[in-house]
Amino acid sequence: MKKILILTNWKLNGTKKKIKKLIKKYKNIIDKIKNIKIIIAPPLIYLDYTKKKINKINIKLAAQNIDLHLSGAYTGETSIMMLKDIGIKYVIIGHSERRIYHNEKNNIVEKKFNLVNNNGLIPILCIGENYAEYQNNQTKKICIKQIKFILKKTKTKLLKKLIIAYEPIWAIGTNKSPEPREIQKISKYIKSYIYKKHKELYNKTIIQYGGSVNINNFHEIIKQPDVDGALIGNASLNGKNFISMIKQIR
Ligand code: 13P
Repeated sequence: MKKILILTNWKLNGTKKKIKKLIKKYKNIIDKIKNIKIIIAPPLIYLDYTKKKINKINIKLAAQNIDLHLSGAYTGETSIMMLKDIGIKYVIIGHSERRIYHNEKNNIVEKKFNLVNNNGLIPILCIGENYAEYQNNQTKKICIKQIKFILKKTKTKLLKKLIIAYEPIWAIGTNKSPEPREIQKISKYIKSYIYKKHKELYNKTIIQYGGSVNINNFHEIIKQPDVDGALIGNASLNGKNFISMIKQIR
């Protein structure tokens, strides 16, 4: 049975009270289903708080972003050193909301990805096409271009795992998503590209799908053979629904 990697991206949502409640719900599921691994990405300000709350629960944490600098006069930023200091293992890199609202182009994404990897943490790379590109059958081309750009400077031997989240921009927060068989096709294509170009990453590559994952489509998506998990935004914020969704794995 394959292991399913669930990453919940809480984006700019939550309060201490809400986080406490959500963790309680998440705990129920993690004890009951053996073949899942859950990583939570809370807002940066709540990382340390969430870490205390998940004490002894088998849940890991991811940061939603980092700065390129390690320290210095960069008001408002958080560095990889600080994440290391509080024991965080994963960082989401290249999310389309950062690419769009913070103008993070591929060159910034590449630098952040490699900064995370070179410092011994695990980057989770988000890639995906916009709607016009999807309609014009450009998905494969766009995804490979994004991956290629990142991996050309990556010390792949340092990668404990290559985690890629395929998140079509048009599917994020829209209640629209590609058909599960389309997600399978692109996941398979990405894996075969990586295995061809980077043999050292064979069996070390995890492809997640993200973009309007919900209780109705979750099961069908994660049962696709080359889909190893899901990156879930909105549907991870309602504890009850999240649990019902994850229970479908059994
Ligand atoms: P939604 O699940 O809300 O569409 O968000 C997906 C996402 O962006 C996860 O990173």
